[in-house]
Amino acid sequence: MYNETVIDHFNNPRNVGEIAEKSAMGQVSSPVCGDTTFIYLDVEDGVIKDIKFKTFGCAAAIASSSMLTTMAVGKTLDEAKQISNDDIVKNLGGLPDVKIHCSVLAADALREAIENYEKEHQA
Ligand code: FES
Repeated sequence: MYNETVIDHFNNPRNVGEIAEKSAMGQVSSPVCGDTTFIYLDVEDGVIKDIKFKTFGCAAAIASSSMLTTMAVGKTLDEAKQISNDDIVKNLGGLPDVKIHCSVLAADALREAIENYEKEHQA
């Protein structure tokens, strides 16, 4: 059902956990299945210095969150906002159709974290 990249990111997820001194957090639950992803950001000078996640969900959701963190680290907030669920699916080498919403969960959680950061740091 899953390709090798997805299985690798599920078995060895990158950047799992929380950031104690986080700059912002995003939490999103999927309207499709109720699974939840938390994204923690450490932002410095508008750049994502560190990103961690916790996902209470299926294998595809964990793999999507893991892949997302590897794509977002080092990017500016504006660049990171552009990461779509399609980008995540592409980097994972594809997901089954019924699991596309799992990648949406990851992308939405990152956007939520960035929006929360921007709300808290408005001049
Ligand atoms: Fe809902 Fe994967 S089944 S996030």
